[in-house]
Amino acid sequence: MNTEPHATVAFEDIEAARERLDDESVVKHTPVERSTSLDGMTGGEVYLKMEHLQWTGSFKTRGAYNKIRQCVEDGGCESVVAASAGNHAQGVALAATTLGVESTIVMPKAAPQAKVDATRGYGATVELVGQDFREAMAHAQSLVEEGDAEFVHAYDDPDIVAGQGTLGVEMYEDCPDVETVVVPIGGGGLVSGIATAFAHLSPETRIVGVQADGAATVPDSLDKGGPQTLDSVNTIADGIATGGISQLTYGLIEEHVDEVVTVTDGDIARAVLLLMERAKQVVEGAGAASVAALLSDQLDVTGETVMPLLCGGNLDMTMLQTVLVHALTEREQILRLRVRIDDRPGKMEEVSGIIGSHNANIQTIRHDRSAPELDVGEAYLVFQIETSGAGHARNIIRSIRSQNYEVRHVNA
Ligand SMILES: Cc1ncc(COP(=O)(O)O)c(C=O)c1O
Repeated sequence: MNTEPHATVAFEDIEAARERLDDESVVKHTPVERSTSLDGMTGGEVYLKMEHLQWTGSFKTRGAYNKIRQCVEDGGCESVVAASAGNHAQGVALAATTLGVESTIVMPKAAPQAKVDATRGYGATVELVGQDFREAMAHAQSLVEEGDAEFVHAYDDPDIVAGQGTLGVEMYEDCPDVETVVVPIGGGGLVSGIATAFAHLSPETRIVGVQADGAATVPDSLDKGGPQTLDSVNTIADGIATGGISQLTYGLIEEHVDEVVTVTDGDIARAVLLLMERAKQVVEGAGAASVAALLSDQLDVTGETVMPLLCGGNLDMTMLQTVLVHALTEREQILRLRVRIDDRPGKMEEVSGIIGSHNANIQTIRHDRSAPELDVGEAYLVFQIETSGAGHARNIIRSIRSQNYEVRHVNA
């Protein structure tokens, strides 16, 4: 029987990490803001922890700096290697450059250009290898085997977890009476660190982890008694799309996390938009998952002091567009109407006129004669229009119908 204990993380490790990270130019104490909008929506007292305003736009420098600094102090770490498609890349690059260490970050070929540029901007050499994260990871490991660089894992490392745990201490200091803390989970390093900190400082605080439905491995892992992985993941929240946790993070989650909930991409998209509209904060999908959980029916915080963690702000502009279109379509502020017409000159103008009379802007019109259910001489006009919301949309549909047109609200 293997009796060797698994590596784990204790509060003392987090305290030691705090001392190493005691430099505002490496990691700053990020602000907390009360959100009265979210108070009203959840029935709780909501304090947003704004770690998306951290250097590099996420918490990742905390773990990376804690790890690399120890490697340097332990005697000569000249270079590090990491694999990442996003925030870990930037965190490692900044931490390494600050410590005078060379860094090579392997990113999948399809990594967003903005993240590649940002990682290079923090001083790393970026190698674009592989179609996905796994292929990038395999290449990164081969670089470590070939040379003498130190590998910096994104979550499966006690030094990384202890570094992320410094955020838990900060959250406690910001709001010692906090009753529920909500933390997104990918590989579990972040929640493990935060939960370990709270277990020591305020064991009665409820720690809730959040995963995206399309990348949720923790509920299954807890059910089966060990880390489970997914072959493929599907979520707009790329920061938490790791598809698995490690033995280290499984152990800490099992011990210290009270509850794990999952949210849909729709919940996440709504949260991203709400944070922009109400809190005026640009937060990426993974970073908004905590607020998505509060807005879903998965989590009841009525009457509680609650702190959702906004852990990342690197929202890709293409993703922002996807999120916006999704949310505006859901609110019927972008509306697609399919109108059946006699295919004669003047009909397009007539229907457009009805829409225009409601002051709705027409974005596109498609003319389609090919649907099998149409009679000879008939066509569909598919209008994509901008409205001010569901009430406006209803009035427009009613007006078109009143002129004896068959009209349907379609999504595609
Ligand atoms: C913005 C953001 N939130 C949350 C996480 C999840 O962190 P962990 O993988 O340690 O669970 C990540 C990981 O990359 C992230 O980038």
